[in-house]
Amino acid sequence: MDKILVRGGRPLSGSISISGAKNATLPALAASLLTTGHVHLSNIPHLKDVTTMVELLGQHGSAITIDDKLGVEIDNTNITSFRAPYDLVRTMRASILVMGPLLARYGQTEISLPGGCAIGSRPVNLHIQGLRAMGAEIELGGGYIRARAKRLKGTRFTFDPVTVTGTENLLMAATLAKGQTILENAAREPEVIDLARCLIRMGAKIHGVGTSTLVIDGVDHLQGCHHAIIPDRIETATFMIAAVLTRGDVLLTNTCAEDLRNPIDKLIQMGATIDELEGNCIRIRCHGDINAIDLETSPYPGFPTDIQAQMLVLNSLAKGTGIVTETVFENRFMHVSELQRMGADILIRGNTAIVRGSTRLIGAPVMATDLRASASLVLAGLAAEGETLISRVYHIDRGYERIEEKLRALDADIQRVSG
Ligand code: UD1
Repeated sequence: MDKILVRGGRPLSGSISISGAKNATLPALAASLLTTGHVHLSNIPHLKDVTTMVELLGQHGSAITIDDKLGVEIDNTNITSFRAPYDLVRTMRASILVMGPLLARYGQTEISLPGGCAIGSRPVNLHIQGLRAMGAEIELGGGYIRARAKRLKGTRFTFDPVTVTGTENLLMAATLAKGQTILENAAREPEVIDLARCLIRMGAKIHGVGTSTLVIDGVDHLQGCHHAIIPDRIETATFMIAAVLTRGDVLLTNTCAEDLRNPIDKLIQMGATIDELEGNCIRIRCHGDINAIDLETSPYPGFPTDIQAQMLVLNSLAKGTGIVTETVFENRFMHVSELQRMGADILIRGNTAIVRGSTRLIGAPVMATDLRASASLVLAGLAAEGETLISRVYHIDRGYERIEEKLRALDADIQRVSG
């Protein structure tokens, strides 16, 4: 199994291009099931999770053409299976995103229950409750969700708590429902907005995009479309943090600062200099001290939980003590014990991490536990003295396109090793 070897201590410098957003690509691929028209998606990242979603669509009967430069073209004229099997769903929870589209368009679906994962129990009760409110008959049994509906009907549904894929599933389902659906306390993440834009291109009638109330007037048919996926804000933030912790100077192109207001403000407070340049570029540099900062994760526009692990590393190297509170997921500090093995001084109290800064991180063999946790280990390796060998890097390949190549382009000493 591949590992990543990092020799730390080099300031990052240079320029890289940010990939398309994984979390916008997955729902857009699932949305293609709503139409038999051809759906063409560009700016698609090359990631394991994207391959898994393509595989899932393939086994439903989608014909998919992939072109490295042009993107993905999906033809769903011959959907023959409505089942998402356990083997695929267990490798990627976002497989649940095919539930809404399959039910809305074909009136039936059978999806393996995703179950727990490394960052908590992660229920899908709101996806189910919402579809039931739209008239679906849903049974759970044998580890599967079996759903049927003649035609979904519009409803008013309030999410509690806010859920990203829950909002996306119901939004997609509502586009083909009979009548009006109002989704309240809907997620406002840029990826939800991107999905809504993609659906509008397909002919969906959606109002309130970008707000927490989405109003969807169901239509009888959707058509094919071309849609370019937004840049990945989590990848952008991860490289920004890498630049700051190595005291580097990095230019990120093909990105979007607007989607990162909260993290950018935090990095500036910590001592980074950030220039938002024309043409969707961000230049980030840091040469002096970094100051520790308190932060609390929350749904957009709050601080993203997907950047929490990376910020723990930065706080470990900063002056002072930073208190990081995780409010979105129940068990998202799995990376802390690995960071402690590298010398980080982090105390966990419930959903809070107290990070004492000014640590000298020392390279060590460490193990990735989930996607964003593994990114934090790479960052720690870049700042550490000596060698860090990260195993189980398949987690990182789920969500970061060629991370070691991109970091090498920024002058990092990093390589993938096998065995
Ligand atoms: C998505 C992102 C993930 C990100 C997360 C939070 C994708 C593919 N993944 O995951 O990267 O970390 O948003 O920004 O876009 N919940 C319920 N019932 C439900 C659904 C969720 O109680 O039916 C709870 C969850 O347990 C969690 C909270 O809601 O505590 C938020 O989870 P959610 O937004 O659904 O996360 P995902 O959509 O799975």
